[in-house]
This record gives sequence, structure tokens and C-alpha cells, in this order.
Amino acid sequence: MAQVTDQPPVRTFHARRGRRSQLTTDRLETLLPRYAVPPRLGARPAGVERVVLEIGCGHGAAAVAYAHAHPTHLLVALDVHPPGVARMLAAAADAGVDNLAAELGDAVEFLEQRVDAGALDAVHLFFPDPWLKARHHRRRFVSRHTLGLLATRLAPGGEVLVATDQLPYAAHVREVAAGEPGWVCEEVARPAWRPMAGFEAKGVAAGRAITELRLRYRADVERATRIELA
Ligand SMILES: C[S@@+](CC[C@H](N)C(=O)[O-])C[C@H]1O[C@@H](n2cnc3c(N)ncnc32)[C@H](O)[C@@H]1O
Repeated sequence: MAQVTDQPPVRTFHARRGRRSQLTTDRLETLLPRYAVPPRLGARPAGVERVVLEIGCGHGAAAVAYAHAHPTHLLVALDVHPPGVARMLAAAADAGVDNLAAELGDAVEFLEQRVDAGALDAVHLFFPDPWLKARHHRRRFVSRHTLGLLATRLAPGGEVLVATDQLPYAAHVREVAAGEPGWVCEEVARPAWRPMAGFEAKGVAAGRAITELRLRYRADVERATRIELA
């Protein structure tokens, strides 16, 4: 198995200040209990065919659309941004979506502390903060550390979908994956179920191209590389 190495020295998100609006507070108080994430993600709950984690769901348009389009899957959505999560939960409730669970929190800590080995069928990372300045590159979500974590938390055959409107971020993902034995990175089609919203819509409006990548972890490739290197 890949080693969990290179502890991230910094958070991958922007620290935001400011007061929570009453609307956000009310939505979170009412809806977070209804959409609570289980204390641990382990064996699939009864009747659930796939468990998918969305990291940095923002306002949650993709998460709600995915859950709506895949009623037998469980979509677990995380973000640290309260207004975004509140808005997502309100949209899920309005749409009558129940196969979604959400929490305010850091996805790195969540993966480290609350996800069993092999518990995730897929991970979605859509339009992650690009951290374009060189001194901020270490804040990017995709890193040796997170790929090491994901290699253990994904079920065999699992995948990580990454979409970005920032070419330097796409190059970064390819480079990190190429440096980690076992990871295979390929360009894929835009998922038909994902609505044009949030940071994708902003990127497209600004004329930026969208790159869609799929990362898969192949333990057999990792083992073969290790044997070759020995
Ligand atoms: C650029 S926004 C994109 C939001 C949304 N996915 C979209 O496409 O509109 C990136 C989001 O990732 C969240 N984020 C970054 N690092 C995170 C982490 N470690 N855990 C949870 N959320 C994170 C940020 O708070 C922010 O809301």
C-alpha cells in the first residue's frame, strides 16, 4: 500500500472571517442533524450501492445533482464554508434528496480520522482552490500526502474525479500522480450529471478551459514498481 507521507504543513482552504447570517445559522441548525454524516464511514450502509465523498462542495450544486441522479448512492459532502453548506442543504431539502450527508469540516482530517480503508467508491474534487502563487502551492489539496490517504481509503477500482479551470492545477495533479507509484491519471469527459454552476460557471464565463481528470489507484502497479526498485 502507498505510504501516508508528507504531512500537509498548512490548511488547503482560505480562513474566512465574518459573522454568519441568520439564514445560514437557521439552515444549519435545522438541516445539519437531518443530513448528518455517520461518525465513521466503514461498510456500506444497507441499500447503498456506492459511497462518494465530495471534497470542497461549495454551494453544493454538484453534490445535490449527483445525489438526485444516483438515488442508490450516498454522497457525503464536506466544506469548511458555512454559507455554502447551508445553501446546499436547503437545496437538498427542497429537492427531497435524502441520499446526501454533509458536514462542516476539513476533508483532510475527515479522511485521516473517520474513513475506514476501502470505504469510498469515488471522491469528487471539483474546482479546488488553485493556490496559484508559488509560495502557496503546498496548500493545494492534491499532494503526496492526500494521494497516500486516498490510496488507502478508496475501494479497489475506486476513482478520484478532479475538475479544474486552472491549467497550472491540472498540470500539478498530473505531476503529483506521476510521482506516486500506483496512481494512473487520465483525461475524461465532463460528467453529464454535473450542472454548470459555482466555480465551473465562473471559469467558463471568464473564458477558461475546463480539464476533467480521473485518478485511479492500482495497488498491483504500486507493488510491481516497488519490486522493480528493490
Ligand atoms: C474554489 S471553491 C469550489 C467550490 C465548488 N466545488 C464549486 O465548484 O463551486 C473550493 C472549496 O473547497 C473548500 N475546501 C478547500 N480545502 C478544503 C478542505 N480541506 N476540506 C473541506 N473543504 C475544503 C473551500 O472552502 C471552498 O469552498
